[in-house]
Amino acid sequence: MDIIIRDMVEDDIDAIVEIENEVFSTPWSRESFITEIRENLLAKYIVAEVDKKAVGYGGIWLILTEGHITNIAVKERYRGLGIGEQLLNGLITYCMSKGINSMTLEVRKSNTIAQNLYKKYGFIDYGVRPRYYSDNNEDAIIMWRKNENQR
Ligand SMILES: CC(C)(COP(=O)(O)OP(=O)(O)OC[C@H]1O[C@@H](n2cnc3c(N)ncnc32)[C@H](O)[C@@H]1OP(=O)(O)O)[C@@H](O)C(=O)NCCC(=O)NCCS
Repeated sequence: MDIIIRDMVEDDIDAIVEIENEVFSTPWSRESFITEIRENLLAKYIVAEVDKKAVGYGGIWLILTEGHITNIAVKERYRGLGIGEQLLNGLITYCMSKGINSMTLEVRKSNTIAQNLYKKYGFIDYGVRPRYYSDNNEDAIIMWRKNENQR
C-alpha cells in the first residue's frame, strides 16, 4: 500500500470532515478546516493519502518557539499500518525545519493508544488539565517533546 504524506488542500476537506465525525465526539466543522487552511498563518495541516484519498491527517500551530499539535487521526480501517506514525513524524520534521524543537499536545487520559504513539516519538507526560474535555469532563494529559538540553 502506497502512503503519501503531503500538505492538506481544500479538496481534502470532505474526506477529513468524514473522518473527524467518525472519530471525535466534538468534531471540528468543515468551516474550521477551511479557516485553518486559508487564514491561519500559524497552522500547518498534512494528510496521508492512499489510493488518491485522504485517510488520515494531522495539524499543528506554530506559536513562537512551540509547536502545538491540534489533531491527528486515521480512518479506522487504515489504523495499525504506521500511518499515524508517519503523520506525527511529518509534523515533527516540519517543526524541526522551522527551528522549533518543543512540541506539545493534549490527549484524553483514556486514550492510551494515542499516548503510546506520542511516547514512541519522545513525548513525555508533563501534567494534567482536569476536566478539559467538555463532553464528558475527562482530564487531558499534557505531553511535551523537547530537546534534551531544554528540559
Ligand atoms: C492514534 C492514531 C492516530 C494512531 O494511528 P495508527 O495509524 O493506527 O498508528 P500506527 O499504526 O502508526 O501506530 C504507531 C504507534 O501507535 C501506538 N498504537 C497504535 N495502535 C495501537 C493499539 N491498538 N494499541 C496500543 N498502541 C497502539 C503504538 O505505539 C504504535 O507503535 P508500534 O506499532 O511500534 O507499537 C489512531 O488510533 C486514531 O486515529 N485514533 C483516534 C483519534 C485520536 O485518538 N487521535 C489522537 C487525539 S490526541
